[in-house]
Amino acid sequence: MSTELAIETTGLVKVFGDNRAVDGIDLAVPTGTVYGVLGPNGAGKTTVVRMLATLLRPDGGTARVFGKDVVKEADAVRSRVSLTGQYASVDEDLTGVENLVLLARLLGHSKPAARDRAAQLLEGFGLSEAAAKQVKNYSGGMRRRIDIAASILNTPDVLFLDEPTTGLDPRSRNQVWDIVRAVVAHGTTVLLTTQYLDEADQLASRIAVIDHGKVIAEGTKGELKASVGAGTVHLRLRDGGQRAEAQQVLALALNAEVQLDADPVALTARVDGQSTEQGAAEQAGRALAELARCGITVDNFSLGQPSLDEVFLALTDKKGVAA
Ligand SMILES: Nc1ncnc2c1ncn2[C@@H]1O[C@H](COP(=O)(O)OP(=O)(O)OP(=O)(O)O)[C@@H](O)[C@H]1O
Ligand SMILES: [Mg+2]
Repeated sequence: MSTELAIETTGLVKVFGDNRAVDGIDLAVPTGTVYGVLGPNGAGKTTVVRMLATLLRPDGGTARVFGKDVVKEADAVRSRVSLTGQYASVDEDLTGVENLVLLARLLGHSKPAARDRAAQLLEGFGLSEAAAKQVKNYSGGMRRRIDIAASILNTPDVLFLDEPTTGLDPRSRNQVWDIVRAVVAHGTTVLLTTQYLDEADQLASRIAVIDHGKVIAEGTKGELKASVGAGTVHLRLRDGGQRAEAQQVLALALNAEVQLDADPVALTARVDGQSTEQGAAEQAGRALAELARCGITVDNFSLGQPSLDEVFLALTDKKGVAA
């Protein structure tokens, strides 16, 4: 029996008209982890989440949450899950504290208990000062935080977070990431959808990459990155006259093809597709040391991770070759 799986789907399908928005998705989410569902606009992420949260009926396949079928045992599923939607669901005209107290009362908390829980969450989410402000005056980051707070008034066994940081600035994203980590530390299993590889990277232990309603890759983040290459090294030299020599040194040290950029002092290399992220960083470090040893001065250096675009290109290329 798959008792340790919080979520399990087999051949899950949702059709809108002639659009197979979710086209046979298999997922297995271990309990107590963050599972990332990564995909571009229209991939089917929200549709999957809505089916798992019993808000939308599947047209095919099965989905279970802690072994309970989302259609046949919807009530049992509903009692254990919570959803923070892609678009904020709190009441804009109410203040932060009013929203949380109201929702806690609707969940059956006594008035004092509702007030306590609201205060605790506002404090934990850095919203104490904004508690008495109407939510319509919140920044995007504050909105996302109050929305997540609202969905964990009762600690759920599974929390669905649908694109929790889309449109947030880096600081607000970090705050939301910290909240997600805290929620998981309390034992909640989180299924997180995102368009950002770095977000999945920060939070998720396993990731399913979906596109056009299908899983095109699944694995730990290390496995996914290794499958598309660990990254890209960009270098700018102090002296463009040393570029040819730098190219040779780098090609040897990185065991990769090194390209000369349009910028006359810049070079770019793809790091070996087999290496892990750490391996790539170590390799790049050795290459830098080698350049220094040869008397080549580097003004600027970066080791970038593959972007979501690169992951997709690589994955869909592969699929094309295999097909
Ligand atoms: N209620 C609906 N009626 C008709 N089509 C829908 C409905 N909901 C979603 N779709 C379609 O299903 C497909 C998947 O949509 P979905 O919202 O699940 O994508 P997504 O991965 O969440 O995208 P985004 O990153 O933009 O939120 C899209 O083609 C969308 O237009
Ligand atoms: Mg969506």
